[in-house]
Amino acid sequence: MSEIEAHESKLYSEFAPLYDKIFGKIFYSRLRYVIEELDIPRGTKVLEVGAGTGTSFPAYPRHCEVIGIDLAPDMLARAQQKIEENRWTHLKVLEMNAMDLKFPDNSFDYVMAFHVVTVVPDPVKMMQEVKRVCRPGGRIVIVNHFTSDFPLLGSLTQALDPVTRRLGWRTNLKLKPFIDATGLETEEVYKLSKLSLYTVLIGSNHKNGRRRANNAWPVCF
Ligand SMILES: C[S@@+](CC[C@H](N)C(=O)[O-])C[C@H]1O[C@@H](n2cnc3c(N)ncnc32)[C@H](O)[C@@H]1O
Repeated sequence: MSEIEAHESKLYSEFAPLYDKIFGKIFYSRLRYVIEELDIPRGTKVLEVGAGTGTSFPAYPRHCEVIGIDLAPDMLARAQQKIEENRWTHLKVLEMNAMDLKFPDNSFDYVMAFHVVTVVPDPVKMMQEVKRVCRPGGRIVIVNHFTSDFPLLGSLTQALDPVTRRLGWRTNLKLKPFIDATGLETEEVYKLSKLSLYTVLIGSNHKNGRRRANNAWPVCF
């Protein structure tokens, strides 16, 4: 087990039996859409950080190789059970800290982070690791809720941050400052529906942190 004290991970471990029932179906349709849209090429090496119970796993094509990592052993145990039940030989899971990845530089073509940047204690550090292990020109795909751009709603969600942190996630992460802090070159930023709480962020990995201007970012609720 990693030395990191991530209360988030403990919480998700305790929560594992309920996670699929509560979030699995809601999250899966979104993740399936995002993964299908990527049209992942044959032979692609994919890392999913904070993979949890493997909500996204049914959506990956069998022609790519996927490693899912997470800090919470109970979440991973459920993911492993799904791998065995479905005989997904293209998938495996490992216990690992997303902020301290045990892979060499440039190991993956795609790195995914679904509903996890607001859960890890330091999202910028996690993104540094994500960029390190993703090859130059590889793709980084994030799906997450970001703090609302509307002043009233934004202040309200930020005020709730100390409470939600105790529950295991932060609500004070804003999309544009996050992109600036991580130096992610954005290819595409979209929502599945206009009022969706979740943003899909697809970046191209450039180790020097270039970022393409994009004036058409969606409004965050
Ligand atoms: C909201 S869940 C998302 C799980 C999955 N990606 C999904 O979309 O259903 C967040 C996950 O991040 C994991 N996590 C929290 N801190 C982590 C860390 N430092 N390293 C790796 N995983 C972490 C938790 O254990 C949990 O499984």
